[in-house]
Amino acid sequence: MSKIIAVIGATGAQGGSVANEFLKLDGWKVRAITRNASSDKAKALQSQGAEVGATVIFAVTSFFEVLFRVAKGSPNEAAVKEAELAEIIARAASRTSSLEHYIWSTLPSAKAKSNGKLPVPHFDGKAEADEWIKSDLPDLHKKTTYLMVGFYPNNIASIPGLKPVEFPGSRKWIQMLPTPASTMIAVSGDIRVTPGVWTRQIVAKPELTKGKYTSIGPETLSYGRMLAIYGEVTGRQTAFIQISVQDCVKLWGVAGKELADQLAFNECSPRAWESPDYVSKEELEIKDDEWPGLKETLESLKDQL
Ligand SMILES: NC(=O)c1ccc[n+]([C@@H]2O[C@H](COP(=O)([O-])OP(=O)(O)OC[C@H]3O[C@@H](n4cnc5c(N)ncnc54)[C@H](OP(=O)(O)O)[C@@H]3O)[C@@H](O)[C@H]2O)c1
Repeated sequence: MSKIIAVIGATGAQGGSVANEFLKLDGWKVRAITRNASSDKAKALQSQGAEVGATVIFAVTSFFEVLFRVAKGSPNEAAVKEAELAEIIARAASRTSSLEHYIWSTLPSAKAKSNGKLPVPHFDGKAEADEWIKSDLPDLHKKTTYLMVGFYPNNIASIPGLKPVEFPGSRKWIQMLPTPASTMIAVSGDIRVTPGVWTRQIVAKPELTKGKYTSIGPETLSYGRMLAIYGEVTGRQTAFIQISVQDCVKLWGVAGKELADQLAFNECSPRAWESPDYVSKEELEIKDDEWPGLKETLESLKDQL
């Protein structure tokens, strides 16, 4: 009999990658969780079949959807609501009798790692949910792998504040961020691929991964290096321009403030994606040819750059 992985967010980037990977694996069925079963993406997934119950649940919450649709643009309120949402999902998982492994897509606690100085709402709500699982659902914690996800290379093709734009007359493609070009961050590899590969290996190694943290951050790159790679891929001249937090907010509003908070934390804590109870990609036995890095990802997205 096949095992089942239930994927929350299966029509999205992370969950879509997990669903696609497990659809290819022998002995597995995918249960896609969606709010709109009649969307094209949901129909495409449904055509593969579904089962009741789940052996594995992959869970991800969408901070920016909560920010704009529930929290009326207040990041602190969104962090509280995202944590509440994560707790509802975890509670439902804890009541799933067939569940063997819970994979929760989370992020490091910027608040805790910076001693309260550099909170990042889209990190901290998720990290609060980690602590709540550990304290309130200890049996679920024993089945949980906390999967911290790095910066998606794909953001450079899709997020307006990160996508370089040509500055008229300069022949340069500029990226304006409120941080020095030297700020480093863990980068996830192609987000259409890596959450699926990591989840496959996490599930394959339950003794190693249950109750532990791991991260999808096979490359650690500076924002300046990422822009240089963008230049290599596109053949464009680039310029990294550091702007103030106020200018970033002027440009992008509340999303700009969220980006600025994250960059301030990245600047101070480049190794935040690691933790003492951390399982490395080598221990997970993920091979280097299984994760397209930033350059390969941008090459595959060239028509969108
Ligand atoms: N961008 C980055 O570099 C980065 C890095 C690390 C972590 N993250 C985190 O990644 C998360 C987003 O994941 P993603 O990129 O996979 O998002 P995504 O592509 O926007 O997909 C999210 C999916 O979740 C479902 N969904 C949204 N709100 C829901 C709700 N209230 N209840 C149930 N399902 C809901 C949606 O499916 P339906 O509409 O079909 O239900 C959607 O397809 C964010 O919280 C962000 O902080 C992002």
